[in-house]
Amino acid sequence: MSLVIKINSKNPEISKIRVAAETLRSGGLVAFPTETVYGLGADALNAKAVKKIFEVKGRPADNPLIVHIADREEVNRLSSNIPRDAERLMNKFWPGPLTLVLKKSKIVPSITTAGLDTVAIRMPAHNVAFALIREAKTPIAAPSANLAGKPSPTSAEHVIEDLYGKIDVIIDAGRTKIGLESTVIDLTTDPVTLLRPGRITLEELRNILGKIKIHPAVKAKSEFKGIAKSPGMKYRHYSPDADVIVVEGELKKVKRKIQELIDEYKKEGKNVGIMTTSEYHGYRGDVVKFIGKDQTTIAKNLFKAFREFDKDRIDVIFVEGISERGFGLAIMNRLRKASGYNVIRV
Ligand code: TXA
Ligand code: MG
Repeated sequence: MSLVIKINSKNPEISKIRVAAETLRSGGLVAFPTETVYGLGADALNAKAVKKIFEVKGRPADNPLIVHIADREEVNRLSSNIPRDAERLMNKFWPGPLTLVLKKSKIVPSITTAGLDTVAIRMPAHNVAFALIREAKTPIAAPSANLAGKPSPTSAEHVIEDLYGKIDVIIDAGRTKIGLESTVIDLTTDPVTLLRPGRITLEELRNILGKIKIHPAVKAKSEFKGIAKSPGMKYRHYSPDADVIVVEGELKKVKRKIQELIDEYKKEGKNVGIMTTSEYHGYRGDVVKFIGKDQTTIAKNLFKAFREFDKDRIDVIFVEGISERGFGLAIMNRLRKASGYNVIRV
C-alpha cells in the first residue's frame, strides 16, 4: 500500500505536506512533483533511507542521486568548495531546473553520491517540492520516480504505474510543467562540463560562464570503463518497451524515409507508432501521435507519449529529429538515448 495524497500545486495544503514531510523525517520514501519530473525522495543524510531508493527503483548502486534543497544556506553544508561560477549560476537560475555538481562535504553519506567525492545539488521551482523540503528540514535525495530504465514520470499516474505499493507516499499535484529532467553541470572541472542538457540551455549557461565543455555522451553513445565521470550516462534511460528509431535530417527527406520504414515494418506484421511534430505530415501507421510543434510542448509530452505507445502495444516507434538549438539539445539527447542511439540520418 502507498498513501496517495492529492495536493494543490499552487497553494499546497500545509497539513498534507506535513504528513509527507514526517514520512521523510522518519526514513520513508515519498514521490513528489517538481517542475521537471516527479522525484522519489528520501532524507539525503540518512544512508538507510537512501538505500531504499536504489532498491525500489532497481537502480545500479554506482549511479549517484541529486540532493534537493529549499534554502541556499544548505549548499554550504553539503559542499566543501563552492566556486564563484556556482554562485553566479545559483543567483541566476535557482530555484529552477539546474543541478550543480560540487565537491561534497563529509555530512553527505557515500551511498547518496555513489561513492563519488562530488555531490549534485538542485533547488526545485515547484511549490509542493519547496514546501515539502522545507517541512522535512533536511535535504532530500531524489532521482526520477520511475523504475530504472523507464521514462521519467511526468504525472502521479506514471509514478503509480511504476512504484505503487513499493513506497510510502505518492503526492499527486498534476502534470509537471517542463517534462524533461534538469540540466546537470559539473563545476569541479576546468572548464565546467555540461553532463545532461535540460530546460536551462547551453546557450544560457555560456552567457553566464563563457567556456563550457560538453560531455561526449550528451550527443553520442560513449563507452565507459571503470568509474565513469557521470555514471548516469552509461545506462539505457528513458526507454519505452517498444524499439525507438530516430530519423534526423531535412524534413522532406525525414518524412519520406519514415513512411518507407513504416511500410517495411508493417509488411513484417509489426505494430508501428509515429511521433510527429505536425498534424499534417500524413503518416499512415497504426498510432500517430502529434506531440507538439514547439520545443516546450514537445518536451512536456514526450515521456507521456512513450508510456502511451507501450499501452497501445506498439512494437516500433519512429520519431522525427528536431533542431538542437536551445532546449532542442535536451529533447534530442532524450530521444537518442531512448532509441539506444538507433539514429538514421537522411
Ligand atoms: O529534474 C531532475 O533532475 C529530476 C528531479 C526529480 O529533480 N531528478 C533526476 O534524477 O532526474 P536522476 O537520478 O534521474 O538523474 C540524476 C542524474 C544522473 O544522470 C546522475 O548520474 C547524475 O545526475 N549525477 C548525480 N550526482 C552526480 C555526481 N556527483 N556527479 C555526476 N553526475 C551526477
Ligand atoms: Mg532518472
